[in-house]
Amino acid sequence: KRIIVLISGSGSNLQALIDAIELGAINGDIVAVISNKPDVLGLERAERANIPTIVIDHRQFDGRASFEAELSKAINELKPDLIALAGFMRILNSEFVQPYEGKMLNIHPSLLPKYKGLHTHRRALENGDKEHGVSVHFVTAELDGGPVIAQRIVEVEDSDTEQSLQQKVQRQEHQLYPEVVARFCNDRLDYRDGKAFIDGKPI
Ligand code: GRF
Repeated sequence: KRIIVLISGSGSNLQALIDAIELGAINGDIVAVISNKPDVLGLERAERANIPTIVIDHRQFDGRASFEAELSKAINELKPDLIALAGFMRILNSEFVQPYEGKMLNIHPSLLPKYKGLHTHRRALENGDKEHGVSVHFVTAELDGGPVIAQRIVEVEDSDTEQSLQQKVQRQEHQLYPEVVARFCNDRLDYRDGKAFIDGKPI
């Protein structure tokens, strides 16, 4: 399968995918990494793995629509089977997302539907949650609102800080995302009518 990974930052989830592919755990190749920010660590990680990189800097466009038009063009030229958002920090319009429904995944650091959006670890701590975690979901027009495919739970301890919680969640992210991408690439995941299926069964 042809995979595109979209990033905005450090790319540790990208690295987890690169490593899983190198180990033969994912039946696919990353054909390009696209970042909306220049000079981020994720781009270096891609270059180190000999993966072509594309920077589409949103600040160079006047408005979301023209940025997204350029992004779509770059994506469509690459004819991907899967687009994996991995710390991609731009909100995407429904017109952009719609053509890719069912083949675009996102990883989000909370137990969705809890804590859509930013600062998830802080919010979990502020609410005194005993459990927190990470979700992988199909991307739909609703921000962090598409059907959840898989989650990992972490226990929140009294001693946890925003940073320690983030680290715990990230360790789970780096296992979970490659697993879900592997399943997708083995044709075990489906999306129909706004719902996710694994091996033909609703999730
Ligand atoms: C991760 O926590 C991911 O869940 C969120 O953004 C972060 C990206 O981290 N969507 P990285 O760039 O993969 O290191």
